[in-house]
Amino acid sequence: MNSRENIVPLTRIRAPVDALARPIHDLRISVMDRCNFRCPYCMPRETFHEAYRFLKSNERLDFPELLRLARVFVRAGVRKLRITGGEPLLRPNLSDLIGDLTSLPGIEDIALTTNGMLLAKYATELKAAGLTRITVSLDTLDPAVFARMSGGFGGVADVLDGIEHARRAGLAPIKVNTVVQRGVNDHTLLDLLAHFRGTGVIVRFIEYMDVGTRNHWNPALVVPSRELAARIHARWPIAPRERDYRGEVAERHVFEDGLGEIGFISSVSQPFCGDCSRARISSDGSFYTCLFATQGVDLRGPLRAGATDDELFELIRGIWSGRRDRYSELRASMRDSAELHKVEMNYIGG
Ligand SMILES: C[S@@+](CC[C@H](N)C(=O)[O-])C[C@H]1O[C@@H](n2cnc3c(N)ncnc32)[C@H](O)[C@@H]1O
Ligand code: SF4
Repeated sequence: MNSRENIVPLTRIRAPVDALARPIHDLRISVMDRCNFRCPYCMPRETFHEAYRFLKSNERLDFPELLRLARVFVRAGVRKLRITGGEPLLRPNLSDLIGDLTSLPGIEDIALTTNGMLLAKYATELKAAGLTRITVSLDTLDPAVFARMSGGFGGVADVLDGIEHARRAGLAPIKVNTVVQRGVNDHTLLDLLAHFRGTGVIVRFIEYMDVGTRNHWNPALVVPSRELAARIHARWPIAPRERDYRGEVAERHVFEDGLGEIGFISSVSQPFCGDCSRARISSDGSFYTCLFATQGVDLRGPLRAGATDDELFELIRGIWSGRRDRYSELRASMRDSAELHKVEMNYIGG
């Protein structure tokens, strides 16, 4: 590649906005479609079984390809990256990629979402590579409920150990993502909060979503954030805070006694499509403009066929400019009209 192609003009003059005037600000990169858990709400075992055909390693974008795409996305307006999966820590040498991405001009923030199983092993090297903060998924502290929600893999102690290693490595803030399902883990959430209150760890409750087509989504299992907030408020009063920036997914609250912050991600009960500035790349290099998309646009083909950065930029710009996605806002009507072949979350990245 011509090294001059690497020089990214940081002006946003040509940065696209979509058909609903939303810029492209966040890019979520799935670096690995495989996972060491089988959370039923994401990768149910009956689908993602031993014979399931995951991507081969040469089908996944390699690190130079990911880096190059990230650069082009910066030119299109991206300032924030989230590395996700599947389980990103299953990707060999992930810290090398993090190191390269953190030094990319224009990137202001890099986050990583992990189930925490391998975090004790990698926290120090991730921090040394330049990662500053981390999000760890943990749905409950109850071992039996944990086993049910991870598909029988891993354990609470491993994830807590991972969080402790992240803390000792200096990763901050540490956020915990907790998917909430009625009758499954919602009775354990105050215990989870009691554990993290006052530690600086920010717990964010995520409404159970209808991602993909395999998780047998049942709206009756969704606990609306307002209901959950009321339950929490009755135990420890909480007060809302401004979002950090336009398009932030979590609605922030603080404990009134000063013992920290929590968040609510309410894609089902309070859709936030209006501000959505998130793009996604699957592990094999397809570009998706919505978590609930049915189709992506292949970027790996052009990349491997020798497309220039300008050509890739024009491709991305064209796709983003035509974007009209607002699935969460239209959920009710869209679910009726089409049980669409929505792409699975392990592939596209959460
Ligand atoms: C797909 S995972 C990928 C990263 C990593 N394996 C993990 O679990 O943190 C990203 C996030 O999506 C959340 N998630 C997965 N399926 C979901 C669903 N059906 N509804 C809401 N959140 C979901 C997970 O709990 C996790 O916090
Ligand atoms: S939510 Fe994360 S840990 Fe659970 S199956 Fe999906 S990718 Fe794996």
